[in-house]
Amino acid sequence: MEMTHTLHTRREAARLGGGEARVAAQHAKGKRTARERIAALLDPDSFSETGMFVTHRAAGFGLENDHPAGDGVVTGTGKIEGRPVCVFAQDFTVLGGSVGEAHGRKIARLMDVALQNGVPLIGLNDSGGARIQEGVDALAAYGEIFYRNVQASGVIPQLSVILGPCAGGAVYSPAITDFVFMVEETAHMFITGPDVIRAVTREEVDVETLGGASLHASRSGVAHFTAPDEDAVFAQVRWLLTFLPPNNLTPPPSIVTKDDPHRSTPELRNAVPTDPRQPYDVRAVIEPLVDDGEFLEIQSAFAQNLVVGFARLDGHPVGIVANQPVMLAGVLDIDAGDKGARFIRFCDAFHIPLVTLVDTPGFLPGTDQEHDGIIRHGAKLIFAYAEATVPKVTLILRKAYGGAYIVMGSRHLAGDVNLAWPAAEIAVMGPESAVNVVFRKDLVAAADPESCRADLIRRYREELANPFVAASRGYLDDVIDPAESRARLIAALDFLRDKRQPTPKRKHGNIPL
Ligand code: HXC
Repeated sequence: MEMTHTLHTRREAARLGGGEARVAAQHAKGKRTARERIAALLDPDSFSETGMFVTHRAAGFGLENDHPAGDGVVTGTGKIEGRPVCVFAQDFTVLGGSVGEAHGRKIARLMDVALQNGVPLIGLNDSGGARIQEGVDALAAYGEIFYRNVQASGVIPQLSVILGPCAGGAVYSPAITDFVFMVEETAHMFITGPDVIRAVTREEVDVETLGGASLHASRSGVAHFTAPDEDAVFAQVRWLLTFLPPNNLTPPPSIVTKDDPHRSTPELRNAVPTDPRQPYDVRAVIEPLVDDGEFLEIQSAFAQNLVVGFARLDGHPVGIVANQPVMLAGVLDIDAGDKGARFIRFCDAFHIPLVTLVDTPGFLPGTDQEHDGIIRHGAKLIFAYAEATVPKVTLILRKAYGGAYIVMGSRHLAGDVNLAWPAAEIAVMGPESAVNVVFRKDLVAAADPESCRADLIRRYREELANPFVAASRGYLDDVIDPAESRARLIAALDFLRDKRQPTPKRKHGNIPL
């Protein structure tokens, strides 16, 4: 009886975290404690905590008199929508959630468990970073976490949720994981904070401008999802997991859908303007295609000229990659290369088939792009598509010009099923540019250059820039009525479900980084 009493007293003490005052301070910042967050994220009563009584063994700088149970991080297993997950939540009320030897060992142990059991890992990050009093032991702890992040990459999905500060080298664990979520205003990520920046460069900057959620969602591309509060971020985590398998040896989770796989999509006949200069939102094409119009867009504010995200076709998860004509006419640029390649590689690692929707005039011209490495970044997209062995189904909606035609899931990069709508334009370049290059002399000599140009452009479209040339070569499997699109994509993926594609034996390829 007394022993049970001791247990409960110890548990109570651990659950108090850093004590009432620090919990109140946490709440005052609009943040929850680690255990409150886990309860909000997981299915009710599904959490089994491990390591509640772990304490550090550091001495000095006051730590010898302070041994909080759990050492500032709550770890354990639980369920989301009935499926197992491993989760850790740093407790900012305990030593600022800082990572010391014991704290790091708890996370590392959880990662080992996640990897051995093939279960997704979710990290709830809210920490002052490496525990200053523990010196190199704190750095070692981070190193052990980074190592495991890399070993687990492509084996189990790893999700990082940033719910407070995430500074210094601490950002690199989330950066290695597959998806980063940030809460607006309260989450910040940076390598060096405003004070260090001021000391080194004299630049004045606040934390939000430096590394807030909106910056990382739109500019740096570090964050894949952002939301105004913790509940909204947890809802995104739960939604994302519905598309993902628990590990690379298990197929993605399929569901029974009421959306008819044979449903005709006649609305798509008018989705794309006939004038090739007219933009439109490609999400208006994606939504009618997929089950129940449900599309989870990833990095929606970054490289908006390329849309990527998850949806389902006949109940099976797919990764969608689509040029976005409403943004920069859907060109491919540096950020689109990074965004697309990373998404494709995630899908490939976890057996999620790729559906590519093409409408792009090509790569973005310009000195900035060239100097900042469009060659290197654009190459990532080629590499990722060519390397992917998951089923790859490509539908050309309108423009597919130049290198962008090749890159965007073409037959030549081992696309499995390649389709086009009748209005597709496939050629080395657009009609205007092509006519200017090839017929420059004819245009100069023409009595009426404008009517000559119009005539040549018409001929170019009829003879070259249409889908039937590619279809006649077998580069396209078929030209389809937009109304048949959903049914044809589903039929293709159904056929490809058990695709097996051997790859050359090697340690790993060398993707341009
Ligand atoms: C030990 C820490 C700590 C740390 C915070 N605390 N960070 N303790 N090591 N790294 C403690 C504080 O002393 C304080 O203890 C409590 O946590 C809450 O911190 P506050 O400063 O009161 O909170 P707040 O005002 O909200 O500021 C949060 C903060 C600030 C912005 C994170 O604490 C801060 O700047 N901390 C240092 C961040 C940092 O430089 N970390 C090292 C980064 S380098 P009491 O007892 O007063 O409540 C790094 C290298 C990783 O992480 C290397 C990996 C390779």
